[in-house]
Amino acid sequence: MLQNLQQLPADPILGLVAACRADRNPNKVDLTVGIYMDDQGVCPVFEAVKQAQRTLEAEEVTKAYLPAVGDENFNFGIQRLTLGEASAALADDRVCSIQTPGGCGALRIGAEIIYAAAPNARVWLSDPTWPVHIPLLGSVGLEFQAYRYYDPETHGVNFDGMVQDLKKAVAGDVVLLQGCCHNPCGADLSLSEWGVIADMAEQQGFTPFIDFAYQGLGDGLEQDAAGLRLLVARLPEVIIAASCSKNLGLYRERTGATIVVCRDAANARAITSQAQVAARRIYSMPPAHGALLAGRILTSDHLGGIWRAELKLVCQRINNLRSDLREVLELRCGGDYSFIEREKGMFSFLGLSAQQTRRLRQDFGVYMLDSSRINVAGVNARNIDYLAESVSKVI
Ligand SMILES: Cc1ncc(COP(=O)(O)O)c(C=O)c1O
Repeated sequence: MLQNLQQLPADPILGLVAACRADRNPNKVDLTVGIYMDDQGVCPVFEAVKQAQRTLEAEEVTKAYLPAVGDENFNFGIQRLTLGEASAALADDRVCSIQTPGGCGALRIGAEIIYAAAPNARVWLSDPTWPVHIPLLGSVGLEFQAYRYYDPETHGVNFDGMVQDLKKAVAGDVVLLQGCCHNPCGADLSLSEWGVIADMAEQQGFTPFIDFAYQGLGDGLEQDAAGLRLLVARLPEVIIAASCSKNLGLYRERTGATIVVCRDAANARAITSQAQVAARRIYSMPPAHGALLAGRILTSDHLGGIWRAELKLVCQRINNLRSDLREVLELRCGGDYSFIEREKGMFSFLGLSAQQTRRLRQDFGVYMLDSSRINVAGVNARNIDYLAESVSKVI
């Protein structure tokens, strides 16, 4: 039976990571996968996580399964981190959440809930979107529509195009939005644009589904949540896929949550039961370790304080790198790279063709996606000049 299976092509991003790892060029630069790297090119463990790990080890008495909704402390902490301590929806007890294996698990459970509620729902995705949205949501059976989002000419959001397209979204449709630090383009909505989306959702009745994988890496934890919180303050229903991979550095621990803001407490209980049944169908119980650490950090003033200070430095470093990269590229290549400074989070498109990105890989060992999406956090003091010089040679 199994001998009929053919080898599939490597995932485009993971394939490039592997190619970069195998490249012997001592000057190689890896700007492919979306992990935060420090100035040494290392994806670090947060000090708050190390401390939480030590206390967890000393106090942990069991490795029995977590409940299907996950760790209570974690759910409490992630709801408040995302929605804010002062959230009226939290005070009204109309929020539920389920701990998931990473943000991917959160997107998948969100899609399962949507499909259970409305199997014919169309999910509107930004053009471009994070490619993994397609298999994660599509395998549940949901249909897609695209809305215009990124304008390569201005390197910003084509908000008029977005609004025109989303005028066709109706009640029962879902609009997937990235809460901040858009992957792959780095171009985010302004708060007033979030307000327009809230108006449209109110008038047209569609449901926002917010992919929130980068809270704290754009402008800060509170600022990055402003658009999401605006929608939650105004709409009866919002679905959120939160991830602790980037902002707590818990990539391999697979720690995330599907948070659902519901019409009332009874509906929140119903949705919790739906989410639990969906999880049971796919993986049963969520992994514990990362959520136990995140729960401790998010609910402790001491550990939370250490973590917030560390995350602030990460955010500052990314924004400083954006300024440095703009400066060095303009110096070496000419042209206007100010968009790199305006964009947020880890990603930007450099605006190169697929052919130019291939030349960068082959001739210079500089690895970025064919779309010229770079992970800004892969830039550091040692490679920034080489990167800009290599780009100048292919343009
Ligand atoms: C846009 C977006 N959403 C969700 C995720 C989910 O990440 P994870 O499952 O690692 O938490 C990522 C990770 O790269 C992402 O870029």
